[in-house]
Amino acid sequence: MASTAANTAVPSCPVPFKDVDDGTVPEHTPKDEFGDLVAALPRRHQSILELRLFHGFWLPEHWIPGTIAFQRRFSPRRDDVVLASYPKCGTTWLKALAFAVAARGAHPPAAGDHPLRRLNPHDCIPFIDEIFAGGEEAKLHALPSPRLMNTHLPYTLLPDSVVTGGSSCRVVYVCRDPKDMVVSLWHFLRRAEPELSFAETFESVCDGTVAVGPVWDHVLSYWRASVACPDRVLFLKYEDLLLDTGAGVRRLAEFMGMPFSAAEEAAGDVEAVVELCSFDKMKGLEVNKPGGGTAGRYKAMPRDAFFRKGVAGDWANHMTPEMAARLDGVVREKLEGTGLAFA
Ligand code: A3P
Repeated sequence: MASTAANTAVPSCPVPFKDVDDGTVPEHTPKDEFGDLVAALPRRHQSILELRLFHGFWLPEHWIPGTIAFQRRFSPRRDDVVLASYPKCGTTWLKALAFAVAARGAHPPAAGDHPLRRLNPHDCIPFIDEIFAGGEEAKLHALPSPRLMNTHLPYTLLPDSVVTGGSSCRVVYVCRDPKDMVVSLWHFLRRAEPELSFAETFESVCDGTVAVGPVWDHVLSYWRASVACPDRVLFLKYEDLLLDTGAGVRRLAEFMGMPFSAAEEAAGDVEAVVELCSFDKMKGLEVNKPGGGTAGRYKAMPRDAFFRKGVAGDWANHMTPEMAARLDGVVREKLEGTGLAFA
């Protein structure tokens, strides 16, 4: 697969990153290159993470060299699609849906040998800043078009080559009710740090010092971009996807310039994508079960950690009404006048 992708006729659809990443690209970390810059940034601890305040966001320290390299060196292709999210807001699901939509020419969603039945979505679509952190840009060059990549960086930290300068590269963002995000984040972090208290995670979200936060600034960075450039930035909500996944799949396909044809609609391809990427189907796959290994950027995290409950409203099982009202209040105040709200 690697040689096909790199050297010969370029397929018209993405291939799983893991199938292209054949392990032959040497790594050279840019860490030393930006070491002084990182060391000069304000820092704080959160859970097991060392955070640095970088252009208004508390990024995990080890992300920053890759972020800078990404900002300086990324050259987008016309049909690139960057999937973006704040962590625990539906990244894995969005990756699965986007891959299934974009790869449907070569991999019909109902096919028994579909890559998403053997690979975790994080193995199909790479974290772009992680690629740059490892100095592995050659892997990106080897990906056939359209390339699908993802990031947890806010819009304001994406490279100029993506956000300005006439690039027609598209960005899809998924957000989620911050109350459910914080519950999901706590469960996720506890896989690596079992003693972590919910209260500590909650407080860090409320005061804006959580990793990749403040959350409201993250969400607003993409919201504003989607309002200013709706053709280039698609803004989705996890809760809307849950309510009508088929509508989300159609929107995604249209936005990526590959709408479902009447024949595909009649054949039930939209429903097949929804089914392929459904929580129960993905959680039940061998590769995503406990012991199924680790994935993508989260090399220390087992793949099953990405599939917990997959619902809206689980916050009610973890926080008091007072806590919920407090977080809602903080977020409402920050979003006021922007046209964006969480129900
Ligand atoms: P919960 O912890 O609330 O269950 P991310 O992919 O950004 O890390 O987000 C993880 C959250 O998305 C988890 O939420 C996870 O269960 C949920 N999720 C993962 N795959 C999903 C799917 N196919 N459908 C719906 N939700 C999914």
